[in-house]
Amino acid sequence: MLSQETRTIIKSTVPVLEQHGTAITTVFYKNMFEAHPELLNIFNHANQKKGRQQAALANTVYAAAVHIDNLEAILPAVVQIANKHVSLGIKPEHYPIVGEYLLKAIKEVLGDAATDDIINAWAEAYGVIADAFIGVEKDMYEKMETQENGWSFFKEFTIVRKEKESENITSFYLKPADGKNVPAYQPGQYISVRMSIPGEEYLFNRQYSLSQAAREDEFRISVKRDADNDPNGRVSVYLHDELNVGDCFEVSAPAGEFVLDTKKDTPVAFVSGGVGITPMMSMFETVATLTPERPTAFLHAARNETLHAFDKDIQKYVAAMDNASYKTLYSDQPQGYITRALLEEYVDITGDVYVCGPVPFMEAMIQELRSLGMKEEQIHFEFFGPAVALQTA
Ligand SMILES: Cc1cc2nc3c(=O)[nH]c(=O)nc-3n(C[C@H](O)[C@H](O)[C@H](O)COP(=O)(O)OP(=O)(O)OC[C@H]3O[C@@H](n4cnc5c(N)ncnc54)[C@H](O)[C@@H]3O)c2cc1C
Ligand code: HEM
Repeated sequence: MLSQETRTIIKSTVPVLEQHGTAITTVFYKNMFEAHPELLNIFNHANQKKGRQQAALANTVYAAAVHIDNLEAILPAVVQIANKHVSLGIKPEHYPIVGEYLLKAIKEVLGDAATDDIINAWAEAYGVIADAFIGVEKDMYEKMETQENGWSFFKEFTIVRKEKESENITSFYLKPADGKNVPAYQPGQYISVRMSIPGEEYLFNRQYSLSQAAREDEFRISVKRDADNDPNGRVSVYLHDELNVGDCFEVSAPAGEFVLDTKKDTPVAFVSGGVGITPMMSMFETVATLTPERPTAFLHAARNETLHAFDKDIQKYVAAMDNASYKTLYSDQPQGYITRALLEEYVDITGDVYVCGPVPFMEAMIQELRSLGMKEEQIHFEFFGPAVALQTA
């Protein structure tokens, strides 16, 4: 428990954190990586360059300060982050390193304004927050390891099949190199892959949603070749261009809480943009096979037909379901966007909706779904990168 005095000090720093949060986390990462370059084997370098991870950390530290009297309020965020942490193999011994460099960064950015009282209060608060993460993550690691065919941290997998799904999305079917089966994951969960890329000093880690309903013996991920921007995406282009059947890389056990509640029989809708279709494939296939009578809608936005993955698979499932509808819109064509009217037509607002796609797409969809009357707890979404604050009205 934090003392009243500590809480008062933490709360008094809320405006400062709001103003300098990202500056503090930027200094934090720079200094931490200088002192501990081995951590570059864990962090995503592109997220660092784009500042998205700095912003995600700053938002969380800020939220913790705001809710310091009632840290329970940030538990949902802790669980989401802890899922990412366990997927990447973050260990308790990493926490003091982060704590040390976070405090040093607060001191460096705030200068004399960061009095000893403030630094001591933050050291105490960090300890409490870190313990909460370590506790949640310990339970998650135990579950991952003790489930049937489970493991914690990373394990070698082999590519057993590679199939093109669209012009820029390819599926990779993966089996454990030790010949064992895989654990039964929840539809919507993701894995982390970890690999070394020739010529690169550090390991690369990326998350990929599992893109088919759970199978006993294999995982499938479906990866978009991210080569529209400069520089090219490192891992996705390496996977597409260089890795083939028989090649291996490391994989962590399924994690994430963007998952379908398979016990429900109430209406469910999937709304995806681009490669955000991948977790939907796992959820949709699960509904189609376990509860084909469940009222289900699938709305997908792609740029054009050649970039549209899984169309035939979805149509096949829809045909075998009792009450399923499916529509795709191509943004290269006139009126090619998912509009409020279309959501109103397809989504039953008494049920659950799952949204995944680029951030502006999710913002637009979630804003419309809310305005149609859907509540927070009915709208589930996944970021394909560090969480950002959604700009919705
Ligand atoms: C939970 C989760 C699930 C995901 N599921 C999937 C999935 O199913 N399928 C899928 O394809 N992806 C998925 N992703 C995204 C995936 O993890 C990777 O982010 C994606 O494949 C890009 O990785 P990359 O290494 O190819 O690109 P990176 O090298 O990470 O680059 C990403 C982007 O950043 C840009 N960039 C890199 N460096 C800089 C720089 N210095 N300045 C400016 N821009 C820069 C690149 O141009 C590129 O557009 C998921 C992510 C998460 C968090
Ligand atoms: C209390 C301390 C910590 C807080 C508040 C915190 C917060 C966060 C947040 C908000 C994210 C983004 C999650 C998302 O939206 O996907 C994240 C991701 C991450 N965290 Fe932590 N974290 C803490 C400790 C640690 C430690 C000790 C390590 C290990 C050195 C670590 C390594 C990572 C990594 C590697 C990612 C993924 C980064 C990426 O994909 O770019 N974190 N953390």
